[in-house]
Amino acid sequence: MKQFPPSELLNSLPKQFFAGLVKKVGEYIAEGHDVINLGQGNPDQPTPAHIVAKLQEAAANPLNHKYSPFQGYGYLKQAAADFYLREYGVTIDPAKEVAILFGGKAGLVEIPQCLLNPGDTILVPDPGYPDYWSGVALAKAEMVTMPLREQNNFLPDFHELSPEVLSKAKLMFLNYPNNPTGATATQEFFEETVKLASENDISIVHDFAYGAIGFDGEKPLSFLQVDGAKDVGIEIYTLSKTYNMAGWRVGFAVGNESVISAIELLQDHLYVSLFGAVQEAAAEALTGPQNCVKELNELYERRRNVLIDGLRSIGWNVTAPKGSFFAWLKVPDRLSSEEFSNILLEKAHIMAAPGIGFGEFGEGYVRVGLLSSEERLVEAVRRISCLEIFKK
Ligand SMILES: Cc1ncc(COP(=O)(O)O)c(C=O)c1O
Repeated sequence: MKQFPPSELLNSLPKQFFAGLVKKVGEYIAEGHDVINLGQGNPDQPTPAHIVAKLQEAAANPLNHKYSPFQGYGYLKQAAADFYLREYGVTIDPAKEVAILFGGKAGLVEIPQCLLNPGDTILVPDPGYPDYWSGVALAKAEMVTMPLREQNNFLPDFHELSPEVLSKAKLMFLNYPNNPTGATATQEFFEETVKLASENDISIVHDFAYGAIGFDGEKPLSFLQVDGAKDVGIEIYTLSKTYNMAGWRVGFAVGNESVISAIELLQDHLYVSLFGAVQEAAAEALTGPQNCVKELNELYERRRNVLIDGLRSIGWNVTAPKGSFFAWLKVPDRLSSEEFSNILLEKAHIMAAPGIGFGEFGEGYVRVGLLSSEERLVEAVRRISCLEIFKK
């Protein structure tokens, strides 16, 4: 068979760091080991029943068997606007300030292609969600990373950006509650972001994937709650985490009209819109009963407490995440993040994601997910306590 080589563009895509680890975990499972997988970010709970029921009903409607309108149904955009008003007190024009997405990831990968020319500079957090790098590569843009350091509560320090970088930068990605660090943003930080963006003509994309998950009674801030945010940027919201709908592929972008229209234009060329029944179910999720969101948040908080308290009780001095469903744990004993992840897998049959996979400044940490039951997290702590490095 002839072999057709991939294009230069495809060859320029970043390598999937975690693929090797996932393969190794698969091998351990195939050998019959009981692996506790804390390495990935797939919500473990089902989609709430009322949302599934809406999909079932809507799937039977012949209208939904046709092509849905380009750019999606108006009722879903209205639902997104109603959601932002209800949850954040933010007014959104559904006709001009909402773009429907096939999940947050699609929007995040599309945006650099919407706004950047080859060689343009984009500012990206380090550590950060690796899919940001894919969009940068597809747009042939130049990525400048912004270190997220623990001493700055995992917020970028904009003073570190040189005037030259600031003058070249056209786009900035931010993400709070943060994957992988579990940090949240403050109002002051978002105000500083708006000021910087406005002075330097940088468009901000705030990835609010974990917007619904905040601990200790703190509701995570939407970037759009800050004065002037809509002038300089957009927020990407996904239903994947808030409503356990990761497999449904539905999210939306809200905010700056010019950015929204650029996304819609690209999407007009790439797709029609989402299956109409998914759009109806998504509108139901956003505007229907919200108890499920509160209960989910409480579930993650209980798991966080079990994990963090348990690890502290065995002498590992870890920091508790403030939001998201991840904990970002400082690697003990001066091991590298990969060395420590290997020890966890080989000796405790626990998968954790080594921080280096999220960028250079992720070194020295591992990311663990709160996506297993409290019993499994207790068992994970027990196994970790048996490791040589935790035996005093
Ligand atoms: C930080 C962050 N952004 C965006 C996403 C994308 O989520 P989805 O494409 O399911 O909306 C994820 C998913 O893991 C994420 O962790």
